[in-house]
Amino acid sequence: NRDERALRIATLDWEGLQAEAQACTACGLCKTRNKVVFGVGQPSTDWLVVGEAPGAEEDRQGEPFVGQAGKLLDNMLAAVGRSRQENVYILNTLKCRPPQNRNPQPDEMALCAPFLQRQVALIQPKVIFAVGRFAVQALLGRDASIASLRGQLHEYQGIPVVVSYHPAYLLRNLPDKIKAWQDLLLARKTLAERKAP
Ligand code: URA
Repeated sequence: NRDERALRIATLDWEGLQAEAQACTACGLCKTRNKVVFGVGQPSTDWLVVGEAPGAEEDRQGEPFVGQAGKLLDNMLAAVGRSRQENVYILNTLKCRPPQNRNPQPDEMALCAPFLQRQVALIQPKVIFAVGRFAVQALLGRDASIASLRGQLHEYQGIPVVVSYHPAYLLRNLPDKIKAWQDLLLARKTLAERKAP
C-alpha cells in the first residue's frame, strides 16, 4: 500500500531511487508519459531548484527545464554563478508530464512526493529555490500566492526555502523578473550565511 511504498522509497540510495522512479506506475501519468524526468545537475550541490512538472520537451528529452522556460531559468541561475553542468540540481515536483500540461492533481502530487522527499534527503542542499505554486504546495503544503510567500525564508526538512515565480510565468510577466532577481539574491545570501562559520 501507499505507506509501505513511501517507507521503502525513503530507504533507497540515489541509484535505487532513480530506478524506482523510472519504473513507477503509481499514478495514471505513467500511461501518457514518454520519459520519466528525474532531475538534472550535480546531486552533491548546495543549491536545489524545484519546479512543477515536465512539459512536452522535457517529456521527450527526459530532462527538466529544457524548453523556453528552462532557457530563462538557466539565464537566471547563470546570473548568480550557477549552472546545471556544474553546481546546481534541478528537479520537478512531478516526475511525469501531465497531459496537455494541465495542473498536477492532488493525488499525483501525493504519490510523487516520496521521490521529492528522498531526493532532498539525499542531496542535502543548503538552500531550495522553489519556483511556482505547485513547487510551493509540494514543499510547504500551502496553496498561497507566490507574491504573499516570496521575500521571506520558509523551510522543508529543516532546509531554508526561497519562493519565487515560475519562469514560464515570468515569460508572460516580464516586469516581475526584477522580483525573481531579488529572490535569487535572497537565496545566494541565505547560502552565504549558512556557510559562514
Ligand atoms: N516547467 C517546469 O516546472 N518544469 C520543467 O521541467 C519544465 C517546465
